[in-house]
Amino acid sequence: MKACLRLNYGPPETFQVADISKPAPKPDEVLVRVMATTVNRTDIGVSTGKPYAIRAFTGLFSPKIPVTGTDFAGVIEELGAEVTDFHVGDRVWGFDDNGAGTHAEYVTFPISKAMLKIPEGVDFDFMVACAEGTHYAVNFINKVNLTPDMQVLVIGGTGAIGSAAIQILKAMQVQVTAVCFEADLEIVKALGPDRVIALEREAFTRDLGAYDFVFDSVGKSRFSICKPVLKEKGVYISSELGPNWENLAFALKGRFAKGKRVIFPIPSDIPASMKTVTKLVEWGKFKPLMDSRKFTPIQIKEAFSYVASGKKTGNVVLHWH
Ligand SMILES: NC(=O)c1ccc[n+]([C@@H]2O[C@H](COP(=O)([O-])OP(=O)(O)OC[C@H]3O[C@@H](n4cnc5c(N)ncnc54)[C@H](OP(=O)(O)O)[C@@H]3O)[C@@H](O)[C@H]2O)c1
Repeated sequence: MKACLRLNYGPPETFQVADISKPAPKPDEVLVRVMATTVNRTDIGVSTGKPYAIRAFTGLFSPKIPVTGTDFAGVIEELGAEVTDFHVGDRVWGFDDNGAGTHAEYVTFPISKAMLKIPEGVDFDFMVACAEGTHYAVNFINKVNLTPDMQVLVIGGTGAIGSAAIQILKAMQVQVTAVCFEADLEIVKALGPDRVIALEREAFTRDLGAYDFVFDSVGKSRFSICKPVLKEKGVYISSELGPNWENLAFALKGRFAKGKRVIFPIPSDIPASMKTVTKLVEWGKFKPLMDSRKFTPIQIKEAFSYVASGKKTGNVVLHWH
């Protein structure tokens, strides 16, 4: 089968699409024919081994899993001897933020990890685009005690995380203001926020004391800039560590602070995120934002470079079949 391989951490130029043997499932695994996968920002971290802390999970000196890819949607083709909850022919999706070798025609995946059946009527591209960014959005939102009608500012509505966050927050009935580039206004409006700010036209920093929660989904702001727009006990979360890892330092320093503070969440419990988004999809309250570009294995280096550029819209799908 064809797969995207890399033996060391590094840029996409070092990747190679090669023929390798089709894997056989261990007793607790299933073999999945990968119908759709994405190239996402987690793939960039796992493939470059940066930030270096990620290597504690992905392999200290070289990647533990030589095939790239973190998520999949596909069809079970074979069951390991101990698997009873799934059947051959089941349509499933899964995600592992430490890498799962899903940029391949087939992947073996342990059922103890984050894998669910795809709801009836939902296609592979749609479902796989509900995995990565949504997991982080769920994890950043659930660290804040939000009640309906609270005011939330989401900086960056067109990333995988931001576009998911806006929809999840609206499903929770909070008031959402989203910030994006003017060119992306219509894309972001379609996600359903209450207000959209085009950053070239209006400065969100004028909304003094307006927000209970500022969520910078693209990691481009700083606490010092956003602090004035927070209410007295407001919370700031960024998807990035910030200059000199300041968001982590502020979060540690402010753990017991009573006023405005920073939280830096470590995302966990992928199955819970997947269950949350599945419910929202079934209720018609969630539709992943898809980039207009889709890629094939031959274009995998291009797909990685595109995603690393920070210019994608939502989720970038890659097809192996
Ligand atoms: N903490 C974690 O565990 C974790 C996990 C995964 C990802 N991340 C980080 O989260 C960030 C977001 O990732 P993502 O996949 O959601 O999205 P992404 O691919 O980084 O987002 C790209 C989108 O954000 C827009 N954008 C860029 N700068 C902006 C700004 N200053 N204001 C508003 N919009 C802006 C871009 O618009 P244009 O195309 O128009 O330029 C583009 O559509 C990345 O920095 C990533 O490294 C963190």
